[in-house]
Amino acid sequence: MKYLIIILVTIFSCAKIQAASLTVSSPDGKIVVTVDDKQQPNYKITLENKTVISASKLGMAFKSADSFGKGFVISANNKNSVKTSWTQPWGERKNVIDQHNELLVTFTSTKESHFNVRFRVFDDGVGFRYEVAKQKGLDQVEITDEFTEFVIENPKDATAWWIPARGWNRYEYVYNTTDIASIDRAHTPFTAKLSNGIHISIHEAALVDYAAMTLDQQRPGTLKADLTPWSDGVLVKTKTDFKSPWRTIQISKDAVGLLNSDLILNLNEPSKLEDTSWIEPGKYVGIWWGMHISENTWGSGDIHGATTSETKRYMDFAAKHGFAGVLVEGWNIGWDGDWYHNGDLFNFTKTYDDFDLKAVTEYGLKQNVRLIGHHETSGNVSNYRDQMSDAYALYEKHGVRQVKTGYVADAGNIKRVDEHGIVRKEWHDGQFMVNEYLHSVTEAAKHKISINTHEPIKDTGLRRTYPNWLAREGARGQEFNAWGTPPNPPEHAAILPFTRMLAGPMDFTPGIFNLGFNGLGADTNRPQTTLAKQLALYVVLYSPIQMAADLPRNYEANLAAFQFIKDVPTDWQESKAIAGEVGDFVVFARKERNGNDWFVGALTDENARELTLKLDFLEANKRYEAQIYRDGKKANWIDNPYEMIIEQKEVTAKDILQLPLATSGGVAIRFKALN
Ligand code: NOJ
Ligand code: CA
Repeated sequence: MKYLIIILVTIFSCAKIQAASLTVSSPDGKIVVTVDDKQQPNYKITLENKTVISASKLGMAFKSADSFGKGFVISANNKNSVKTSWTQPWGERKNVIDQHNELLVTFTSTKESHFNVRFRVFDDGVGFRYEVAKQKGLDQVEITDEFTEFVIENPKDATAWWIPARGWNRYEYVYNTTDIASIDRAHTPFTAKLSNGIHISIHEAALVDYAAMTLDQQRPGTLKADLTPWSDGVLVKTKTDFKSPWRTIQISKDAVGLLNSDLILNLNEPSKLEDTSWIEPGKYVGIWWGMHISENTWGSGDIHGATTSETKRYMDFAAKHGFAGVLVEGWNIGWDGDWYHNGDLFNFTKTYDDFDLKAVTEYGLKQNVRLIGHHETSGNVSNYRDQMSDAYALYEKHGVRQVKTGYVADAGNIKRVDEHGIVRKEWHDGQFMVNEYLHSVTEAAKHKISINTHEPIKDTGLRRTYPNWLAREGARGQEFNAWGTPPNPPEHAAILPFTRMLAGPMDFTPGIFNLGFNGLGADTNRPQTTLAKQLALYVVLYSPIQMAADLPRNYEANLAAFQFIKDVPTDWQESKAIAGEVGDFVVFARKERNGNDWFVGALTDENARELTLKLDFLEANKRYEAQIYRDGKKANWIDNPYEMIIEQKEVTAKDILQLPLATSGGVAIRFKALN
């Protein structure tokens, strides 16, 4: 026995001297991460022994200190396992399970400098982040490069869905579908189907006080972290101790698995707000689409949208149909000049003469409808910051609980005045703006105001930590159908769930009923969908706030279809993606919070298809009335988008529905619990 113990000890110490290699696997054992220090710190990932990420470098470089990278060896490690759950104040599901195995690896150089990489491996993917402690030569830190790679095998045989990074239009691009080798620089979430069929999405979680990560393809298949710089070229300015955001890889055998992942939320910190009772998910209408289709103007004049009387008319409409809020854009001074290019004009506390803030908010509150505020900055964030506290206080005084913010400058053109009074131009996704967006959210919280950011920094799951950050844009929304070149193509909403939506809620603003405001056909600006697909969007594209984006008169003209928008909730007990392929089609089932009804939304790209929907997600032993809104037999998005059949059927969990989806069509169903 004594002899045996000595042998074991010897083997153990030998392993420590050789180039070290450590592994950590997911709770179900299928995903394995291997970390080693051969040549330079690196990691790789497999799923059921198939390669997901090949050996990929780790490390970073500094302006005034030696790089973390070559020459660093593994000097210590620590393992941990977690199984817990937590609840969301609002969300796609109330209870979230967090089960993962953790490996903390310390890399040390001969000069005794050191850094940690913390890996967390879940059944649905991997997150890792850098943790850098105080040490000699590292106090104030300027990061000038991050070496992190995501190396993909056979990049020519892998398909990716991606939008370009560092382009002038921020995140508002039509998605590209290409092989991986054809990518230049891409934003995240970056989604791909690998040559072995595995689906992955590379993104980040908990982006706080750091630059956003984009992916730069260096050699074919080598996607390297490319952090968006400050105007002076530095990537990140910080001081030790610091942590990077989590670099995340969601991993699934099939496309649907990506949709059912909670990885991003699980890697964020718990809520910093103790009382969240004032945060109100819900549906809204607004003085908005009229401007986008040029029936109204933001600025003053004959067709000014944001007038007292028009707002009262919207408040009446909201109250009549059960909407919680009315968004009003163009109420404040600043829209009359070249507002897109000149954010200096905006005053966030002075109204136009024909808009009486006190009168409209009082009028609304009498009917349980709140005004939803709006602050367009046009990218002049210093102008906004100077007025922010007064602006939120004014809205708070009038009972406003939600403000939509906007940053419509071209990317790289955010204007700020620095501490020396010098004007600087920053990126929307650089560290400066990452902090600025969060600043508006934490300032708003002091006034019990929630934020919906347009032209935002991408979502990285911060709603868990700051639940008053309700939603954001960060992709092409409905507005592009009014004036975009081209408008969103039929496959757009079949790509979004697998890309942008993996990051978090989007204020897409669905529900356009008048699809032919410029005439129907394939060559006009219009939503390139059927009417049923507009309804399906409410279930497919998750957001705790959903707009009924069209003009009241278009809803009044089709109250039967409008009923679905009135019935659909925005807060869920449970959500399940049932089927889908990236860019082709997708099917979601969601159960309302505080009730027993289920809702289904399904939509397709430019191809018509037949959906076989098993109802086994419904509770056994319950009967439901299925209220179905589906494409008619001859419906197609180009010239017959309105043909829709609304029908009711009694069903149980044992039933299967056969549902035809037209070209760029969809189906929306409410399963009303009967017992
Ligand atoms: C762009 C936003 O996405 C849109 O919703 C808003 O109406 C305009 N900016 C004006 O602020
Ligand atoms: Ca926008």
